[in-house]
Amino acid sequence: MQKINSLDRQRAIYLDGAAGIRQRIPFDPALLEQRARLGMRPEAFAYIAGGAGQDATVRANTDDFGHWRIVPRMLRNVEVRDTSLALFGKTFPAPLFLAPVGVLEMAHPEADLAVARAAAKLGIPYIFSNQASVPMETCAAAMQDTPRFFQLYWSRSNDLVLSFLQRAEASGCSGIVVTLDTTMLGWRTRDLELGALPFLKGMGIAQYTSDPVFRRLMDEPDQAPATKPPITWSAIQTLISANRKYPGSFWANLRSGAGLRAVRTFIRLYSRPNITWTDLPFLRQHTRLPIILKGILHPDDARKALDYGVDAIYVSNHGGRQVDGAISAIRALPDILNVVRDKAPVLIDSGFRGGADVFKALALGATAVGIGRPYCYALSIDGQAGVEALLANWMADFDLTMGLAGCKNLEEVRAAGLKE
Ligand code: FNR
Ligand code: LAC
Repeated sequence: MQKINSLDRQRAIYLDGAAGIRQRIPFDPALLEQRARLGMRPEAFAYIAGGAGQDATVRANTDDFGHWRIVPRMLRNVEVRDTSLALFGKTFPAPLFLAPVGVLEMAHPEADLAVARAAAKLGIPYIFSNQASVPMETCAAAMQDTPRFFQLYWSRSNDLVLSFLQRAEASGCSGIVVTLDTTMLGWRTRDLELGALPFLKGMGIAQYTSDPVFRRLMDEPDQAPATKPPITWSAIQTLISANRKYPGSFWANLRSGAGLRAVRTFIRLYSRPNITWTDLPFLRQHTRLPIILKGILHPDDARKALDYGVDAIYVSNHGGRQVDGAISAIRALPDILNVVRDKAPVLIDSGFRGGADVFKALALGATAVGIGRPYCYALSIDGQAGVEALLANWMADFDLTMGLAGCKNLEEVRAAGLKE
């Protein structure tokens, strides 16, 4: 675990600047997004940046931080500070983690592996996406002791769910994050405009194509009526991509049809919109790992989660990608904390863009904050080094904000409160 000295980091950046060296990863979140956009294919940028509908919730996620203000306190000797957090039997260097993000190969060819290596370098926990571009075993092997989690989409096949759980345990994951808000993909205007869905090209399905149960399910007859798209240049490119992405030789995949069969099987099994609370005990019975429910926005759902014995609540609206007009995560947080109190950790993501946002969530009572789009943009600009720089900047920003607000550690942040 690396301790970030924020003053050293700040000094190094200014000294670089004095020598004419500019940092590759912008500090301003809007500039970061802009810079990333320049280097990305339009479909990749649309997929990452886009939200559902008119992006109202994407905007609310960042705007609603303005509802609260930090009131800094003076003369409290903040020279020695500690941003570390104990959670799930591990110690995190900061109250930060990397949220699960699918299809990172759209941002950078090294995708999840570059993120895993950067996370390990800084000791920041990483939640592997169910829609990753690199199998969890490969990422886990790059992380040594750094905590990692597996994010699960509840597949239509319980056998596949069980296989994912076993693999997560064998990969040394510290918990299972069950994402509840994406049993179907939201109405994503930008992706629809381009008619682009990465999964059809065999992207973002590496957890599946590396799975023995999924491979077996690929051989089952497909009940869905075969839809034959017109044979166009784009259709051929999609076919080529699906076979390239599938493990093994491209020509062998093309001959056996494995690439397309994997895509069709994925679409058939991706997720179950009919899951209910009563399905949760199935997970509890099959894993000893902590279970964390992601996508909770209503206090009654938080209460129910506790009744079902889950280990942590994860407040999120999926970065505004699912229900346009949904409440922002930071707005949803206080009512949920009112219910949960100290009975379970409360994680949160959606709209966090820097240290002050993190401070506000913790001052309201959250336990830790997930970084989402910003690390995808840093990844696209400079791969592993980009994510490392971004994490170091966030850690320094939070540490300085905490100290300048008059707090030496996370307990003091929690006690600080905010002004509405
Ligand atoms: C996501 N998110 C997500 N969540 C999840 O549980 N599994 C996943 O595979 C993905 N995939 C994904 C792809 C992309 C491109 C984005 C932007 C997001 C949601 C993610 O975990 C997190 O909730 C949001 O990113 C938070 O919003 P901001 O802060 O990124 O705007
Ligand atoms: C998304 C899915 C993969 O948000 O979670 O695109």
